[in-house]
Order: sequence, then C-alpha cells, then structure tokens
Amino acid sequence: MKVPHEQRMASPRQYLMCRPTYFDVTYSINPWMDPARPTSIQTGLSQWKWLCDTFADLGHDVRLIEPVPGLPDMVFAANGALVVDRKVLVARFRHTQRRDESAAYLEWFGRGGWSEVRQAEYVNEGEGDFLFTGREILAGTGFRSEPRSHDEVREFFGRPVISLTLVDPRFYHLDTALAVLGDAEIMYYPGAFSPQSQAVLAERFPDAVLADEADAAVFGLNALSDGRNVVLPRAAVGLAERLRERGYHPLGADLAELLKAGGSVKCCTLELRE
Ligand code: ARG
Repeated sequence: MKVPHEQRMASPRQYLMCRPTYFDVTYSINPWMDPARPTSIQTGLSQWKWLCDTFADLGHDVRLIEPVPGLPDMVFAANGALVVDRKVLVARFRHTQRRDESAAYLEWFGRGGWSEVRQAEYVNEGEGDFLFTGREILAGTGFRSEPRSHDEVREFFGRPVISLTLVDPRFYHLDTALAVLGDAEIMYYPGAFSPQSQAVLAERFPDAVLADEADAAVFGLNALSDGRNVVLPRAAVGLAERLRERGYHPLGADLAELLKAGGSVKCCTLELRE
C-alpha cells in the first residue's frame, strides 16, 4: 500500500553518536581508506557537529559515547551494537584494529536502561550490517558480519531476519548499500548485492527507491530517515530528487572528511530503540 506523500510523518528518535576526537586513517580495512592521504580532525569535527546539530534541530535526542584514544574509527557508532525492543547486542568486530570498541559499548549500555545487554558471539558489526525495518531485520554478510551472526540475531531478538549478500567491496557494510526510509520502505543499490539477494529485495520491497551507481558511489545510501526527513550525503543529488518525488524531505550533509575512512551519515549514528 502506498502512503500518500503528504502523510509522511517524522517520529522522534534517539541516536547514539561518538565525537571524532581521535579520528584518523592509520590503517586500511576497506577500499576507501588510504593512510597516505592526510586527514583533518578539525574538519571532521565540524562536519560531524553539523550532523549532530541537524538531528537535534529535527527534534531527535542525541546521546554521546566517550571516544577512546587509539580507536580512530570509533566515530562510526552504527557499528557498536544493534538495539531493538530495548535489547542490545554489542558488536564483535572482524578486524583487530576495531576490536577494543566493543568494551566501550558494553560499558556504555551496561549503565542501564536496557532489558538485556550482551556481546555477539559471532562477527557482527552492529547496525553497519543489521537494519531494522520496523518489522524484520535485514542482515548483510559478505565482507564483515559472518552468516552465522544472522542466526544469532534472529534468536536474540526473536524477529525475522532476512540475509543479504554483499558482493562489491566498496559497499562492505549493508548500511552503505541500503537504507530504511519508513515503515517497511527502503532504498538500495541493486549492484551491491548478489543476484539472489537482488531477487529477495525485489520480491519483498517492490516499491523500493532504487539508487544508481553514481549515487551509491558517493555513499548516498548511507542515510538516516526519521520517516520524513532523510539526511544523506549532499553529493547524492539524483537520489535526493527521487526521495523528494516520494514525499520525503532530503537534507544534504557534507561528511567528506569521514568518507576518507569509508563512512558517512548512517555510519556515525546508532539508533537506540527503547
Ligand atoms: N573505517 C570503518 C570500517 O571500515 C568505517 C565504518 C563505517 N561504518 C558503517 N556503519 N558502514 O570499519
């Protein structure tokens, strides 16, 4: 059923973010990261602050986790956990360079307010690879989270999990190739998925907004929607137009500095579902 555009409604969200105090590109664990290319913490900070302020202006509640020295990728809070129905599954990172982030998230969530907090047993990069549509959990694999983490997520949350396989190394996390827009409405770049997963997506989401390669390549799908406002990288102009046609309100972000590490809007944001 199509929702008439004027009915698109934003709902207040709670997000967890991490200030890029120690942001840098000192190693390479995805094709975007080139340690030889200089980064600027100042620029990263002001771009990140714009994102934080934008969420607050939209009426969302932004909470912060303290950055840890020596963990330059910790700004990508989406990877820290998956939170659905007040239950928290903290990440288990694939690469050693990020493994210590899990302890910081276990500590933060351990302060209370959640019905259950546990670290994943299998490699699981949180909302980088697991996206909740409001009904089911879409789960990515191929580069980071391992297939058996999908079963673990299904058992832990008691929600249906749909496994999707990523095949293009530029789109190594599910949230670089697909975003949830509203109630069971999504947008994605088909070329990032295996033919089988493309068929699954086409069948389950026949009305999805499809991104072309140009918009995907500027990380246009690394976006965050509150049901009406969609914050996405500013360079994804075609996608913004398509969203407007569907009655969404796109807001262009410039996070070019953080993109040097292979992350943008969604990567910086973990949704807390209480
Ligand atoms: N440099 C980080 C990594 O490769 C970027 C993580 C981006 N986060 C995301 N949710 N896609 O792990």
